[in-house]
Amino acid sequence: MIRVGLGHDTHRLGPGTALVLGGIAIPHDRMALGHSDADVLLHAITDSLLGAAALGDIGEIFPDTDPANRGRDSAGMLRVACDRVAEAGWRIVNLDCVIFAQRPKILPHRAAIRSRVAAILGIDVDRVWLKAKTGEKVGPIGEELAIGAECVVLIERD
Ligand code: CDP
Ligand code: ZN
Repeated sequence: MIRVGLGHDTHRLGPGTALVLGGIAIPHDRMALGHSDADVLLHAITDSLLGAAALGDIGEIFPDTDPANRGRDSAGMLRVACDRVAEAGWRIVNLDCVIFAQRPKILPHRAAIRSRVAAILGIDVDRVWLKAKTGEKVGPIGEELAIGAECVVLIERD
């Protein structure tokens, strides 16, 4: 049996010194703002996995109204989701992600991000792909007011 899941996330950007994407801090003059550590890529991946296994969504499991989730480590949230999916008997086949960011260039950081995501999920790095698109300098992405990410994941079960 196979299932597909889709995850999407957006965060506001503000002045900062680093952007955290896929658990990797990339030096940058903008940072993502949010209740947790605002790792837009890990949030999209978490939602894709939960959606594929029909196990809820990130905001349901970690409500932003709960003070315990303030500044929460997104890798930890992804691990919780990943464990629930595995407990239901699912294995990850692959995931494919897109980051929507005008700046910085993600390509030079792609290998590090893929490795980190694969390590969090406990899968081979060749099962994780990542790409990035600018906003062509228009809209909230293009004007560097926001950053977004999407992930599609395939899971399988005997
Ligand atoms: O050329 P096109 O309009 O399709 O795409 P783009 O948004 O201009 O991005 C061109 C290429 O730059 C992408 O295919 C990525 O390889 C790279 N890119 C990146 O590394 N980091 C970003 N934040 C945006 C794009
Ligand atoms: Zn988020």
